Parts: sequence; C-alpha cells; structure tokens
Amino acid sequence: MSRVAYVNGRYVSHRHAMVHVEDRGYQFSDGVYEVCEIRDGHLIDERRHLARLKRSLGELRIRMPMEPTALGIVLRETVRRNRVRNGLVYIQATRGVARRDHAFPPADTPPCLVVTARNLDFAANDRQAAEGVAVITLPDNRWDRVDVKTVALLPNVLAKQAAREQGAREAWFVDRDGFVTEGSSTNAWIVTDRAIVTRPAEQGILRGITRTVLIEMAARLGLAFEERPFTVDEAYAAREAFVTAASQIVMPVIRIDGRSIGDGRPGPVTGRLRRDFHAHAERS
Ligand code: PDD
Repeated sequence: MSRVAYVNGRYVSHRHAMVHVEDRGYQFSDGVYEVCEIRDGHLIDERRHLARLKRSLGELRIRMPMEPTALGIVLRETVRRNRVRNGLVYIQATRGVARRDHAFPPADTPPCLVVTARNLDFAANDRQAAEGVAVITLPDNRWDRVDVKTVALLPNVLAKQAAREQGAREAWFVDRDGFVTEGSSTNAWIVTDRAIVTRPAEQGILRGITRTVLIEMAARLGLAFEERPFTVDEAYAAREAFVTAASQIVMPVIRIDGRSIGDGRPGPVTGRLRRDFHAHAERS
C-alpha cells in the first residue's frame, strides 16, 4: 500500500509530497510540530496535542492553519488513508512560503500545514521496554524557549546522534547547575526512595503530554510525586529512571553514562506506569 501525506489542503502520494523551497520552515525552522500516538486506531490525547500546537503557534505569532475540529478531521483522514492502527501522526505547521527575509512575511501569507502518519512496531517497543535503554548526558546547548515545540531541533539531533554513537538510545541535557533538563526527544524522570521525580515544566523543558498524563495518573493512584529539578548524581543513585514521549510512552532507563541504575533492570514503578498509561490517557 502506498503512503499518503496531507500537504496544504491536498492528500498526495507520500513519495511526491513536497513543500516549496522558500517554505520558512525549510529556510528558518520557522515552524512547529506535534507527534501524537495512534493506538488501536484511536488518537491518544489529541485534545492536548492540538492545544499545545495552538500554544506553540501563538508563541511564534503564526496563525493556526485551521480550526482544531477541522484539523482533527485531517488527522483522522490521514490515519485512515495510511491504514495506521498503531503508530504516530505527525503535524507540522510553518509560517508559510515567502521570499527569503528574516522578518515576518506579509500578514496574509497562509501558513503551511503538513500531516503524515505511519505505523510503529509496538511489539518491538515493548521488547525494548522489557530490556530498558541506556542514556548519556550532555550540556544543554539549546535556546531558552524549548517550551515551544519548534522544528528547530539541531541540538537535539546532534545529541541523539551522540547517544547512538555511544550505544545509547537517548541523551539527557544537563543545565549549567548540573540539573537534568530533559531528553533530546523525551522528558526525563527518576524514582527515588521517596517519590517519582521530574523537572517542573516552567524550567527549560517541553511540557510533554505524556508527562502531564503521568502526573495526573500518579495523583489518582496515590503515588508520591515531586516536581523538582534533579542532578545527574541524583539520577546515578536513583532506584529507577525512565523517559516519556508520545512515541515510546514510558521507557525504562537502566544505564546513565555507563552506570547501572538500581539493579540495572527496568524497575517496578516504571513498569506499572507503562502498563497503566493507556487506561489514563484520552482516546478519540
Ligand atoms: N518528542 N521533550 C522533547 C524535547 C520532545 O521532543 C518530546 C516529544 C518530549 C515529550 O513530549 P510528549 O510526551 O508530548 O511526546 C519532551 C516527539 C515525540 C518527537 O520529537 O518525536
């Protein structure tokens, strides 16, 4: 079956899906994106992903390319046309196409919207979760608006590649004071003797949707939770560690910078959060 992409109002063959060479996303990374999980044919936490998309666009003063309800229809249609039951839908919106000039183009320039969907091997993801993954740490060299989910991901790309070259799955960024901010494409968590810990969303991280659901879930399940920064040393000494993102839900971390975390195996708290996640997330 051939894949289909939605590009500015049309469903086109994925192979021939293109944007203009003067799309500002291409020239300036002047755009934002979202990644939403599809499970059993349902969008997971669509409402929150679309709300975050709207916020990201608002922060950059880019118009929402269409209303959330209409966008929801495009997402479903892209998922349907690609016959995705388990996978991801990707949304990218940019400030549109205009003659190259750093300043904003004329106000009537329409934003560009691209949507793609693809299957993901959840069984492989589960196998990975049963093993756990390794992470490395790196200085956080990103700008200070990482709360906006922009397509300007070069530091994240370089960090992820550094991780891969060191046999790890993810890189955790570390701020100047030695505190972990987040992963290159995930939020970072540890489990201490006292609580599940993750950094406040106001301080140099993306407010992950998976993170938000997990915090609500911890409250409902009566699990001790602390929203505070943690250092790399604290992470080395943690009982468990894990990362969260729409693409992998809750993924256990068993090694950080080559040091085993806890007993070097995925821990029970992480396992429970992973198992129960979809009972708490919204399906639509
Ligand atoms: N990444 N932090 C960063 C820097 C991210 O890029 C992501 C998501 C997250 C987790 O957010 P959420 O739980 O809403 O997926 C945190 C997506 C999946 C990506 O870039 O592919």
